[in-house]
Amino acid sequence: MKVLVIGGGAREHALCRSLSLDPDVTALYCAPGNAGIGEVAELYPVDALDGEAVARLATELEAGLVVVGPEAPLVAGVADAVRAAGIPCFGPSREAAELEGSKAFAKDVMAAAGVPTGRSYVCTTPEEIDEALDAFGAPYVVKDDGLAAGKGVVVTSDLDKAREHALACGGRVVIEEFLDGPEVSLFAITDGETVVPLTPAQDFKRALDGDEGPNTGGMGAYSPLPWADPKLVDDVMATVLQPTVDELHRRGTPFAGLLYAGLAITSRGVRVIEFNARFGDPETQVVLARLRTPLAGLLLHAAQGTLDLEPPLRWRDDAAVTVVVASHNYPDTPRTGDQIEGLDEVAAQDAPHAYVLHAGTKRDGDAIVSAGGRVLSVTATGQDLAQARERAYRAVARIRLDGSLHRTDIAREAAGE
Ligand code: AMP
Ligand code: GLY
Repeated sequence: MKVLVIGGGAREHALCRSLSLDPDVTALYCAPGNAGIGEVAELYPVDALDGEAVARLATELEAGLVVVGPEAPLVAGVADAVRAAGIPCFGPSREAAELEGSKAFAKDVMAAAGVPTGRSYVCTTPEEIDEALDAFGAPYVVKDDGLAAGKGVVVTSDLDKAREHALACGGRVVIEEFLDGPEVSLFAITDGETVVPLTPAQDFKRALDGDEGPNTGGMGAYSPLPWADPKLVDDVMATVLQPTVDELHRRGTPFAGLLYAGLAITSRGVRVIEFNARFGDPETQVVLARLRTPLAGLLLHAAQGTLDLEPPLRWRDDAAVTVVVASHNYPDTPRTGDQIEGLDEVAAQDAPHAYVLHAGTKRDGDAIVSAGGRVLSVTATGQDLAQARERAYRAVARIRLDGSLHRTDIAREAAGE
C-alpha cells in the first residue's frame, strides 16, 4: 500500500515512523513534512489546506490511503476532496470535524448524546459574557469558539483577565464551568459506527514545570497511566465515545477518523473538556510507541468502513514518555532559524529506546534548523515510566538549540519520583 500523510509536526513524524515500520506499506509520502519526516518519507511541498492540490497529489502518487494529521485541513474539507477523488482517507469530513472546529457544536452534540461535560454558555455580547462569568464564578474558563491551536483557552481566577480574553475572542466565546481533577487524553479510531479505543495518555499543556505558565499545544506526554482506574477506557467508551459517534451518525454526518476525547477525571466522575477530530500532539508520540498492531491496515479499515473486521489491538507492555523541546519564547513569539545540534548523538547512543521526532524543523544546507514553536518531541520507551523518563531526558540533554525550553517534570509524578 502507498500512503500519503498530510501535515508536518511531530505527530505526523510519529505516524510516518509507525507506517514506515509496517510491512504492508510499500511507499510513504508526506506533504509538507519536515526535516525528520524526510528521512522516512518522500516529501512534497503541497499546501496541506488545499484539498484539490492534496487530492491531485494523492492521485498522481497512486496512494491507496491518505492520512490527514492536523485539524486545519480537516476543518477545511481536505478529507472530502480526497474521498471525492476515489481515494480512501483517514480523517473526518468537514462537517464532522466541526466537533473540534466549533466548541459550541461539540457542546450541542454532547447535550444530544447525553455525554457528561462541563456546563457552559455560548456568548456573543459583552452582557452575555458578564452574566456567564458571574454565574460560574472563579476560576473562570473562557474559550474561543473556533480553532486556536490549543491556545484559545484561558483559565484564570482574575475576572478582568477572563473578561479581556472573552472580548478579544471577537465572535462566539464559550464560558464554562471549571473542571478539577487530572486530565486524560483518550483516542478512538472509528469508521463512523464501530469504535476502537486506543490506550490513554496524559499531556502537559502548560509551558513551565509545575503546570505554570501559559497554555501550549502540549509540552510532553506519557502512557500508560498507572494511577488511572482500570475501568476508565470501558467507561469512556460507554458514556462518551460510542454515544458521540452514534449521534453524528444519526445526524447524517458520520465521524470517521480519530476521535480524541480530552477528559477531566473530576470528583463527580469523568467529564469531557474537549473533542478533537485528529490524533493529539504530543500524545500520539507515546501512544504509537506502544502500539504493536500495524498502523496502515487499521487506518485503512477506518477509512473504508470495515473497522469491524480489525482484530483486537495489540500493545507493548512498555511505557513511553515524550518531552517537547520548544524554541526560544514559545508559545508567545517563538524564534526560528536556530541550528539544532546533537541529533546524531541521540541516534548513535540512545537508539532504539530513545529517538527524536521532529516538529518545526527544516534543512538549511547540511544543518537542521528550527522552523516553529514546538521543535522536537524526544520520545523514549522503557520497562516502566521511570526508565522511559530517564532515557528521554538523557536524549534531551544531548540536544543543543539556542534558547530552547523544555519541561523537566514530564511523567515525574506518575513515575513515583
Ligand atoms: P482545550 O483547548 O479545551 O483542551 O483547553 C485547553 C486546556 O485548558 C485543557 O487541557 C485544560 O487544562 C484547560 N481547561 C479547558 N477547559 C477547562 C475546564 N472547564 N476546567 C478546567 N480546565 C479547563
Ligand atoms: N495535545 C493536545 C492536542 O493535541 O490538542
